[in-house]
Order: sequence, then C-alpha cells, then structure tokens
Amino acid sequence: MRTVGDLRTLRAVVRAWRQEGLRVGFVATMGNLHAGHFSLIELARKQADRVVTSIFVNPTQFGPNEDFARYPRTLAEDSLGLVEHNCDLLFAPSVEVMYPHGHDHAVTLHVPEVGDTLEGAHRPGHFDGVATVVAKLFAMVAPDVAVFGQKDWQQLLVVRRLAQELAFPLEIVAGPIVREDDGLAMSSRNRYLDAHQRARAPELHATLEWMRESFAEGHARAAVEGAATRRLERAGFRPDYAVLRRATDLAVPAGGECTGLMALVAARLGETRLIDNLAFD
Ligand code: PAF
Repeated sequence: MRTVGDLRTLRAVVRAWRQEGLRVGFVATMGNLHAGHFSLIELARKQADRVVTSIFVNPTQFGPNEDFARYPRTLAEDSLGLVEHNCDLLFAPSVEVMYPHGHDHAVTLHVPEVGDTLEGAHRPGHFDGVATVVAKLFAMVAPDVAVFGQKDWQQLLVVRRLAQELAFPLEIVAGPIVREDDGLAMSSRNRYLDAHQRARAPELHATLEWMRESFAEGHARAAVEGAATRRLERAGFRPDYAVLRRATDLAVPAGGECTGLMALVAARLGETRLIDNLAFD
C-alpha cells in the first residue's frame, strides 16, 4: 500500500489507474479504524479494482465544545489494518492540503433540509463541515464509487444529496452497520467509554429494537418516541433524540405512514455522544 499526503501524487496515481481502465473505489474516514471501516473497504474492493482510503480528522465538522482535540489519532496502527485489508492507497493529507486558506476561511457547503434536522440541529455546522470535506475529497480522489456506512445514516443522505446536486460523476454505495456481539454499533468513539458505560451502551441498540416492535404493535409514533427517551434516561443516558423518521429524507412520517421508516437515536453516556439507527423494513 502506498501512502500519500499531497495532491499531485494522489492525482498522478489515480490518473495512471484510470488510464489502465481500472475502476477506483473510495472510503473516507477520520482514522482510528475498526471492523466497521474495514467492512466498507471490503465493500469498496467488491465494487472497484483499486481502493483509496482517506484518513483526515476534519476540524470543520467538530463544534467548539466537541472532541476534536482528543479524537483518537492512530495512523501507524491504521496503516497496518489497511494493508491487511488490501487497501491500495492511503491518502492522509495535512490540514494545509485540505484547507489551503485555513479552515476558518474555507469555501463552505450547506446541504439544506436533510442536513438541518437531528444531528444538524444538535450539532450546528457539523454537516457543513462534513459536506465541505467530502466534496473536497471527491474532487481530489475522483473515485468512480464511494462507500459510506449506514451507521451515520443522516451523513449518507447528506452525501448523496451533495453528490447529486454538485454532479459528481460517482456512485455512492451504503455499507451495513457492523455491531459488536452485544449489539453496540462499532464507532471510534466507543473507546471513550469506561467499563461501566461500555456495559450500558448496548441499551442504545436494544431501545431501537424496542421502538421497532412497539411501532409494529400499533403504538403511536409520539408515544414510542417518548417511551424510548424515558427508557434511555432510566439506563443512564442523556438522550438528544429518539425518533421515528422516514428513511429517505428524515421527514416526520404522516399519520398512517408505516413503510420506509426507521428509528434514530443520539444520546450521551457521560461525556461520550453515541448515535445509532435501525431501519424498520
Ligand atoms: O464519517 C466520517 O468518518 C466523517 O464524517 C467523514 C465522512 C470521513 C468526513 O470527515
């Protein structure tokens, strides 16, 4: 596996592949790679002849009181994992490469509607940072196919909308959520949890499953959401939301609408904020 940090080399390598008629797959990450990321790389490998993974802890998607400074940076370990999973190229740019005018002066994208609700409402500016960095990465890597994880379902919708509106000539593929044996969705932030919190964390997924069952039994959306919030509070979480939404655009479903729905939750355990979701169909 080759590791590059500059644009000129990245472009030369990808151009050479393309001249050979090879299809290029891409997985964008912030590093601290785990089985969830590796499953996306394996999926990209099935869709393409060459796989590029980026590792960049993007400052513009973190709010002022969020975990940018302590976000785990494990490049050496990540590189070994990428080699094991047959990644062809690691793009690990500096902040200067990604934001040549400084990240406070960057051209910024905003994805309305689907980017404004839930995570967008609780983490103001988060999706502007995500949309901006993903658009830059698409322009730099120029992949044929990009794979994003369904754990960040809203991010996936934001990325799809931005790729469509900005006419990036690529396909977006969604990779399924990878869970620990006890149901906890894999996330780099799980490593912040102490043993006590880690033991409680699977309740997030259990609550999503309970929401699906409860809605299927005929309970009203608002009642399910309220009960799910209380259930999480009883388990020691501080929920930001526990909601049922339409999966395609995260709109609040109309009364009687019962297909194409999903449950989404975001909640803190101590200082650690976790998100998860579950499709109903
Ligand atoms: O999902 C992530 O790790 C990040 O939001 C992404 C897509 C790499 C953009 O920084």
